[in-house]
Amino acid sequence: MTIAPSLLSGDFARLGDEALRCERAGADWLHLDVMDGHFVPNLTFGAPVIAALRPCTNLFFDVHLMVESPERCVADYLRAGADMITMHTEAIDEDIFSQAIKTIRDAGRQVALCVNPGTPIERVFPWLDCIDMVLVMTVEPGFGGQAFMEDMLPKIKTLREEISRRGLDIKIEVDGGISESTIGAAAGAGASVFVAGSAVFGAADMAGAIQCLRHNAEL
Ligand code: DX5
Ligand code: ZN
Repeated sequence: MTIAPSLLSGDFARLGDEALRCERAGADWLHLDVMDGHFVPNLTFGAPVIAALRPCTNLFFDVHLMVESPERCVADYLRAGADMITMHTEAIDEDIFSQAIKTIRDAGRQVALCVNPGTPIERVFPWLDCIDMVLVMTVEPGFGGQAFMEDMLPKIKTLREEISRRGLDIKIEVDGGISESTIGAAAGAGASVFVAGSAVFGAADMAGAIQCLRHNAEL
């Protein structure tokens, strides 16, 4: 089970300290939400900020690109130190997506595809042989602190079954509304990577919150 705090809920005036705080609190990955103000109605940070954060922590950088035409900026995020690059099925240009996958893998990093709540999970099936992870959004992307959408659980189950049926080794990540009370259902449906923004940064005791998430995911 992998717990990935989302820096979106951290203090933007002290991002480097917040990243290190996650590492010291026992996080496995750091989830970095890149938003361009077009694909989603919010604007956060991009490759220069991620590059500046890279020396602040040893955490695995899980970069979630909520941007239009994400393939065009893959090289920037590789240079910035991304370990995993996630692109939205709703934003990619399928003609050049294969090249983007190759660029990421040739650099020794990992690649993931993401589906919004309204996108059928079958949309990722043609790519399952050549990606490392699928991110299933459990809220509409754009903002932290929203309620977990339970009706996404069947999508996670369907995906887990397809991955098993094809004998693949692909992680399933969930993002949005993950808390002590919702993480168990997501894990039960087949997810093993859990993004948590408000549940981690909103807690008085960050290490305790991460421990509790991990415990409830493993129940
Ligand atoms: C939403 C982002 C999430 C967000 C999750 O678009 O992709 O990563 O930070 O925040 P919580 O855990 O508060 O729902
Ligand atoms: Zn995210």
